[in-house]
Amino acid sequence: MKNELILILDFGGQYNQLIARRVRECNVYSEVVPYDISIEKIKQKNPKGIIFTGGPASVYGEGSPKCAKEIFELGVPILGICYGMQLMTHILGGTVARANKREYGTIDVSIDNSSPLLQGFEKTNGFLMSHTDYVETVPKGFKNIGFTESCPNAAIQNTEKQLYGIQFHPEVNHSMNGLQVIKNFLFNICNCTGDWIIASFAQESIQKLKEKIGDKKALCALSGGVDSSVAAVLLSKAIGKNLTCIFVDHGLLRKNEGDEVEEIFRNQFDINLIRVNAKDRFLEKLAGISDPETKRKIIGEEFIRVFEEEAKKIGTVDFLVQGTIYPDVIESGLGKSSVIKSHHNVGGLPDYVDFKEIVEPLRDLFKDEVRKTGLELGIPENLVYRQPFPGPGLAIRIIGDITDDKLNILKDADSIFREEIAKAGLHKNINQYFAVLTNLKSVGVMGDERTYDYTIALRAVETTDFMTGVWSKIPYEILEKVSSRIVNEVKHVNRVVYDITSKPPATIEWE
Ligand code: XMP
Repeated sequence: MKNELILILDFGGQYNQLIARRVRECNVYSEVVPYDISIEKIKQKNPKGIIFTGGPASVYGEGSPKCAKEIFELGVPILGICYGMQLMTHILGGTVARANKREYGTIDVSIDNSSPLLQGFEKTNGFLMSHTDYVETVPKGFKNIGFTESCPNAAIQNTEKQLYGIQFHPEVNHSMNGLQVIKNFLFNICNCTGDWIIASFAQESIQKLKEKIGDKKALCALSGGVDSSVAAVLLSKAIGKNLTCIFVDHGLLRKNEGDEVEEIFRNQFDINLIRVNAKDRFLEKLAGISDPETKRKIIGEEFIRVFEEEAKKIGTVDFLVQGTIYPDVIESGLGKSSVIKSHHNVGGLPDYVDFKEIVEPLRDLFKDEVRKTGLELGIPENLVYRQPFPGPGLAIRIIGDITDDKLNILKDADSIFREEIAKAGLHKNINQYFAVLTNLKSVGVMGDERTYDYTIALRAVETTDFMTGVWSKIPYEILEKVSSRIVNEVKHVNRVVYDITSKPPATIEWE
C-alpha cells in the first residue's frame, strides 16, 4: 500500500490536510509529518517525493520552523509551497524579503510552461496567492519559472536537483487547474504511477491486522456510526471471532436503528456482538431532566458505566479498537500518539477497561476514504452514507424532559420525515435532517374534536463542515406531505413547523 509515498512536511499552514487530500485524489498515498522529522526517518519512509506546506511564519522570524539542510541532498524531488518555497530559498542561499503589502486572492501568474511542473498550462493562469514575504533572489542553480505583477518569483525550479517552489496554493479550489500542478509534480517529476486505490487499502489492512493481532483478542465499541462500523468489519475480516463488539443501545437511537445495527453486524458479518439493551437504565437516569448539558453528561457517564460492566465480563483483552480517522490524528497533534477518541463525544472511553494496546485501523484515512472502504467491505450504503447523528441521540431532540412516550412520538415523526426526503431523492443534497419534539403544546382540531397536543419541528441543513450551514429550501409540496403524514399518523402531534434558521446564529441541533 505504501510503496509509493509522498511525504508532506507540515509547517503549520491551514491547507495542509487539503494537500494530502489532493495527492490522494491522484491515487498516490500521502502522509503529513512534522516539519522537523529526522533525515533517518525520511530515509526509512523512502518517499517518492516531498512537499513542504505553507505556514504563517516568516523565515527570518525567531523560532520559525526549519527543516534539516540535508533534506535537499537526499535526491528526492521536493515541492515547496508558499512558506515551504521561502524556506527552501533561505536555506539554499537565496533571499526572502517582506513586501509592503500582502498579496491576496486569485492573481494572474505568468509562467514558463516548458517547466515539468507547469506543463500543459497557458502562459498566464489564475492562482490563489496569500503572502507577505516573497522570494527576492533565487538560490544558485535555480531559475525563475513564474511571476506576477508584484511578486518577481512566484515559481522557481532547479531541475537538476529536482527542487521546485511555488508561491501560490495549488491545493485550494480557487486555484484553477491547481490539481494539474500537483499531478505534474507527482507524475512528471516524482515518477509516481498512481496505483494507490482504496480496494488495495482494505485488503492490505486486513492482512496487516492479521499479522499484528494473530490469535489474540480485540474489543470494539460499536455505535452504528460509520467509523466504528468500518473499523469493526476490518477487524472481523482479519481475526473473526477473536473480535468482540459491544453495542450499547441507549434506546435513544432513531426508529429501528438498534435492530438494524444488530442485523448487519450479527447476521450479515457474523461478528461476535454483544448488544446491551439499556434503554430503561438511561431513561431512569434521565427522568425529569430538562437541561441539555446535564442530559449529555448523564448519557456520557452512563454509557461508560454500561460499557465497563460488559468489558469486565470479558476480562483482559489484548487490543482495544478505535475508529480514529486521519483528520483526528492531524488535529490532535502530529508526531504525538493521538488521544483516545471519545465515543462520539459522549464522554470518552473508560480508563480501566483492561487492554494492552490500542489498534486504529482507519488512522490513515479521510472520511470519504473510510466510506469507500466501507462499501468495499460490503457494508450497506445506508449505513456508510448515514448522516451524522449526535452521541446523546434523540435525548437532545426532545426539548424538556424525556419520557418513553415522547421518544416514540419523535421516532415516528422523524422516520416519516426521513422516508419522504428519501422518496423525493433529496437525501443526497441535504446533509442533516431530522425531527425535533418541541416542548410546546397547542390547540388544534381533528374531526369535530378539539385537540391539545405537541408541535413537531422539522430541521434540515445544507453544510460541508457542520460548523456553518444554511437551512434547506425543501419544496413546499414535500413539506406539505410530511406535515400531513405526521399529524395523521403520529398520535399526540397536531402541528408541524419548519425551522428556517441558518447556522449561525442557530445551531443545527435544538439543544
Ligand atoms: P450543532 O448543533 O452544534 O451541531 O450545530 C453540529 C454537529 O454536531 C452534532 N452534535 C453532536 N455530536 N455529540 C455528538 O457526537 C453531541 O453532543 C453533539 N451535539 C451536536 C450535530 O448533530 C451536528 O452534526
